[in-house]
Amino acid sequence: MKKTLIVAVIGALAAGAMVGGASIALAQADVIKARQDNRKETAATMRAIKGVIDAKGDVKTVVPMAAKLKTLELAFDKMFPAGSDKGAETAALPTVWSDSAGFLAASKAADASYDKLAVAAGSGDLAAVGAAFGDTGKACGACHTTFRAKPKT
Ligand code: HEC
Repeated sequence: MKKTLIVAVIGALAAGAMVGGASIALAQADVIKARQDNRKETAATMRAIKGVIDAKGDVKTVVPMAAKLKTLELAFDKMFPAGSDKGAETAALPTVWSDSAGFLAASKAADASYDKLAVAAGSGDLAAVGAAFGDTGKACGACHTTFRAKPKT
């Protein structure tokens, strides 16, 4: 009788631990998806900006797009809680956590490039926007080189 009770208690504890573990994994999968969605939106915004430049369109329309890139970036660097290196497929390299200062610096460098892009766009100068857009692309690439696994193709 006593033994049965102990077994039942241990069983319940183990089940509880499993549920806890599963919900943590689920939360990590959610945060991984959120940051990948954030980057998809970032890439779509970059494509929209490129569209304006290629069409030699009104570069003032790039001002809010640059602001959007910055808003996305400010949210993005907070989407890497400890443990979210797994739980779903992720291209984030272990360096994101082992060199978090470097990762944040790369994100801040991208912020600065979005600010410059916004200023160039506000000036209405197409050539300046083209140059600032190129620098922004380099800021994306600089972070990817160190902190993102090469896309499998
Ligand atoms: C501070 C670092 C950093 C910066 C800056 C950065 N990225 Fe990334 N990017 C990452 C990391 C890390 C991932 C992998 C996320 C994951 O899979 O969990 C990623 C993933 C992506 C992806 C793949 C998303 C998917 O479908 O899974 C795209 C597209 C992308 N980035 C585009 C961009 C563009 C465009 C810029 C610049 C405007 C940019 N990134 C700036 C770190 C960065």
